[in-house]
Amino acid sequence: MPVSKIITSVSELDFNLAEIPTMHLPKNALMVTPEHFTVEYVINPHMQGHVGNVDKAKAIEEWVEVRTAFMEAGIQVYDIQGQPGLPDMVFCANQSLPFVTVNGKKHVFMSIMNADQRKDEVGFIEQWYRSNDYTIHHFDKDAISDFEGMGDAIWHTGKRMIWGGYGFRSSLEAYRRVSETFDVPVIALELKNPSFYHLDTCFCMLNSKTALIYPEAFTSEGLKLIEELIPEIITASTHEAEELFACNATCPDGKHVIIQAGCTEVNAKLEEAGFTVVEVSTNEYRKSGGSVFCMKMMVF
Ligand code: ARG
Repeated sequence: MPVSKIITSVSELDFNLAEIPTMHLPKNALMVTPEHFTVEYVINPHMQGHVGNVDKAKAIEEWVEVRTAFMEAGIQVYDIQGQPGLPDMVFCANQSLPFVTVNGKKHVFMSIMNADQRKDEVGFIEQWYRSNDYTIHHFDKDAISDFEGMGDAIWHTGKRMIWGGYGFRSSLEAYRRVSETFDVPVIALELKNPSFYHLDTCFCMLNSKTALIYPEAFTSEGLKLIEELIPEIITASTHEAEELFACNATCPDGKHVIIQAGCTEVNAKLEEAGFTVVEVSTNEYRKSGGSVFCMKMMVF
């Protein structure tokens, strides 16, 4: 049975997907209320030119639309209060990585945000886990420089295995700690293109055998790993991936794909593969470099 290890190339793969134990899908999501969301600084290329340019009322409407889509897909949503001075806190895929053991014990790793502007978000999210029965793990800040939670560390749907993006916001070293603590393999994918700075901007698990990806965001070794372990791959075009954040969709139940409206080509492929497409608008959040996936945290 595969145990803790970091895999960075196909030659290191000594297991196949069928051997990885299953993990139940989380049925709950956290969202951070959007009243303080805005673009106030530039820490990714999408934010360029958008400082002060968020329509606050529209942002609130869109947040409600995304929240409603999750609830209609059968997900229970818990709200955490957004905080003044932390405009990116609303992207709550980033501050943590939750996990559940075979015996149902809940654990979470708290992130070390890469950008100084976002570091204070983590403590507010940690409070929710404290009140909800989670064992909390912190990285040794002297050894690990950064790790941005589920922005980069994505559970393979229904499996005890993590896909881990590194290079921009999370470091490879962080995955060693995660892999050892949770006793799961991490398939580490180096990210090359600053527009796709988090793994969740170019890689979306849909169900246990299907992923939606933007191939150009990966190294050839990374792409080989994805092709080796995931039997069905749907790809997004540059326009739909980079402008519309198609790969930042979320498929919480393996059936409904909640995705930014207008991803025509991807949507046709999703429907062809049997998924139900649920379109929402995240126009204000895309100005900050995020869309559906990063506006929530799936929790156990
Ligand atoms: N402005 C935020 C940042 O650059 C956006 C984060 C989006 N989150 C994500 N998981 N892609 O940190």
